[in-house]
Amino acid sequence: MSAANLQQLVYVSTSAVPLHSIMDVSDILEESVRHNPANNITGALAFTRTRFVQLLEGSAGSIDVLLLRLMIDPRHADLVVIDRIPVETRSFPDWHMISPLFTPSGQARLDVLVAHEMLPIEAFRLLLLEMIAEQAQPAIAPRRRRRT
Ligand SMILES: Cc1cc2nc3c(=O)[nH]c(=O)nc-3n(C[C@H](O)[C@H](O)[C@H](O)COP(=O)(O)O)c2cc1C
Repeated sequence: MSAANLQQLVYVSTSAVPLHSIMDVSDILEESVRHNPANNITGALAFTRTRFVQLLEGSAGSIDVLLLRLMIDPRHADLVVIDRIPVETRSFPDWHMISPLFTPSGQARLDVLVAHEMLPIEAFRLLLLEMIAEQAQPAIAPRRRRRT
C-alpha cells in the first residue's frame, strides 16, 4: 500500500453493556483479529466502564468499510469519529488489534480524555503505546546475575 493512502482514525462509542474487564471485549478482539489481517487493518481498542475508544489504521477504503460495519454493530452506539489523519507509518504494525491492560494511572488518563471527548489522535496514540510498553515490562525485574 502506498504510504500516501495510509490513515489513522480514532472513535469513541458507548457500550451496550457495562465493561468491567478484558473478558467483556474478548469476542470483539477475537473477531477483529480474524478479520483485520485480510483488510490490512491494525490498531488498538481501549475501554472505560461505559465507552469504547478504538484507533484504527489502514487504507482510507478499508477504514471506510470497517466503519460501516461498526456503525451497525448493536454492541455499541453513538459512534463518534474524533479524529482522522493521514500518516506515513503505522503506530501498531504488529497488532491486528490489541487491547492493552491499563495501569490505574493510565486508566485515569483515559477516563479524562474520553469524558471530555478531547481525543486528539496523538494523545490517545501515546497513551496506548505507553500501556503496551508497560505490559512488555516484567512486573518484577529479574535479579541481575552477579559477574564472578
Ligand atoms: C468496539 C468494537 C470494535 C470492533 N472492532 C473491529 C475490528 O477492528 N475489526 C473487525 O473486523 N470488526 C470489529 N468489530 C466487529 C464488527 O462491528 C463486526 O461485528 C464484524 O466485523 C462483523 O463480523 P462478521 O461479518 O463475521 O459477523 C468491532 C465491534 C465493536 C463493538
